[in-house]
Amino acid sequence: MDELGGKVAVVSGAARGQGRAIALRLAAAGARVIGGDVLTEELAAVGEELGNDGIVGRLDVRDRASWVTFLEQGTDAFGRIDILVNNAGVLRRAGLDRETSQAFEDLWRVNCLGAFHGMQAVHSHLRRAGGGAIVNTLSTAALTAWSMHGAYVSSKFALRGLTKVAALELAADGIRVNAVLPGPIATPMVLRDDDPEARHRLGATPLGRIGEPEEVAEVVCFLVSDRASFVTGAELTVDGGMTSGTLLVAPPADANE
Ligand SMILES: NC(=O)c1ccc[n+]([C@@H]2O[C@H](COP(=O)([O-])OP(=O)(O)OC[C@H]3O[C@@H](n4cnc5c(N)ncnc54)[C@H](O)[C@@H]3O)[C@@H](O)[C@H]2O)c1
Repeated sequence: MDELGGKVAVVSGAARGQGRAIALRLAAAGARVIGGDVLTEELAAVGEELGNDGIVGRLDVRDRASWVTFLEQGTDAFGRIDILVNNAGVLRRAGLDRETSQAFEDLWRVNCLGAFHGMQAVHSHLRRAGGGAIVNTLSTAALTAWSMHGAYVSSKFALRGLTKVAALELAADGIRVNAVLPGPIATPMVLRDDDPEARHRLGATPLGRIGEPEEVAEVVCFLVSDRASFVTGAELTVDGGMTSGTLLVAPPADANE
């Protein structure tokens, strides 16, 4: 399948997890990929996997100047940009009483300001290309809050709002802006070596398992493709049904009698 043939896609946080899966999926659909991350060693390995279909470069999404240099490298190599996937993100656990201003702000600078920088930095490129598509990675935490994650939840709620604003403002340039909202996905963000039970615990979704990064990448690939040509400002959950409601466990048969 070559549905993204001729397109150039930028993916932030491409060194591992969902970003790596998205970069490889878009390349498999025919796009040339510009992958950025702060984890340069892992990123280099993804660059090798992409081969001639991609280039990778250091990108710190918090820093506007880093975006400019990174995109220059990308356009020098491929000449244009059609797609942006704002995927980079960080997670932190801290109760309101223990959270510090510095840590709160640091997380926001990646999860919310980073995506703002990305959209602002690619806008002129997408306009020049005659239109394009942006996908922002939110979370089910942008729909329903989690305790002990005030910085993370508020950053994703905010990016949800920013996604809608961008969808409205960029529509006139033929740029679609959508959001993907993953539930629990098997990546280093949530599966750590010191927590071997996490995969099982996080698998308590209606579909009965944790999601895989490739399942998010598939939805992103749809949203940036022409198959989603009339979709903008939309939010697509990829969460195994987790935010659909409460899954009630049926009582034993004789309790109904
Ligand atoms: N894994 C989940 O269960 C889950 C659920 C919902 C949403 N998400 C979101 O999905 C996205 C991808 O996360 P993941 O699960 O692949 O986690 P991950 O930790 O494996 O990957 C996140 C990537 O972002 C990069 N990154 C962090 N700070 C950066 C910065 N300043 N500049 C550039 N890159 C930076 C990291 O180096 C890493 O490669 C994040 O936005 C995350 O909030 C994840």
